[in-house]
Amino acid sequence: TRRITVRDLALAKERGEKWPMLTAYDAMTASVFDEAGIPVMLVGDSMGNCHLGYDTTVPVTMDEMTMLAAAVVRGTSRALIVGDLTFGSYQEGPVQALRSATRLIKEAGVGAVKLEGGERSLAQTEAIVRAGIPVMAHLGLTPQSVNTMGYRVQGRGDEAAHQLVRDAKAAEAAGAFAVVLELVPAELAAEVTRSLHIPTIGIGAGPDTDAQVLVWTDMAGLTGGKVPRFTKQYADLRRVLGDAAKAFAEDVVGSAFPAEEHTFH
Ligand code: KIV
Ligand code: NA
Repeated sequence: TRRITVRDLALAKERGEKWPMLTAYDAMTASVFDEAGIPVMLVGDSMGNCHLGYDTTVPVTMDEMTMLAAAVVRGTSRALIVGDLTFGSYQEGPVQALRSATRLIKEAGVGAVKLEGGERSLAQTEAIVRAGIPVMAHLGLTPQSVNTMGYRVQGRGDEAAHQLVRDAKAAEAAGAFAVVLELVPAELAAEVTRSLHIPTIGIGAGPDTDAQVLVWTDMAGLTGGKVPRFTKQYADLRRVLGDAAKAFAEDVVGSAFPAEEHTFH
């Protein structure tokens, strides 16, 4: 089997087929999703919150991203793996952006990179695409801008809605192969989806985008505390894993583990 390509995703849009994307941050989890048939995995800088214990995505470095993206690539054989360009690794301009993207391609082996911004990242997107690296854009709520934006629904009101459409068209014109729309009103996401030739991938963006992405730890119920309303939990991994750990602890304290069948003589 060969890996999914950005060309396959363009064809899916032509055929009107929707597809799922999940984040992944390690080889073992990624192999589970690969076997489950998830066609695209994002090694998101959400690893900051979900895997590395930071409060936001802002501190994540390209060293961390490269290491975990390489693990996800090693754990998969079918999915297209997309790696996030981390905060500070592309904002300086197209030369820095291309250097960061090239590193992820060469050292981690990803098939595409993602960056935040439409018009504001136009030169960066163009430079990376021109070098032959597929770029996924990320619009709406862009968590690397948490310090100016906060975490709230984006694109509300005429001016903000028009800007989002302009950003989406700028990303497409610059050569992006897909656009993530995070936390925007469903009606606006539907309008952007209709007005682009490239696929849109929604998260908290309603049902009318071409694809849907969820953070895997939210999707599987591993995340502690409150999860966003747009997430659906398909499992209760936090409880399952906690119960397993408690059962192991009880067995050790009560001398029930190891039993004869776990023991060598
Ligand atoms: O880092 C991430 O997980 C993301 C998705 C939410 C799109 O950027
Ligand atoms: Na991200």
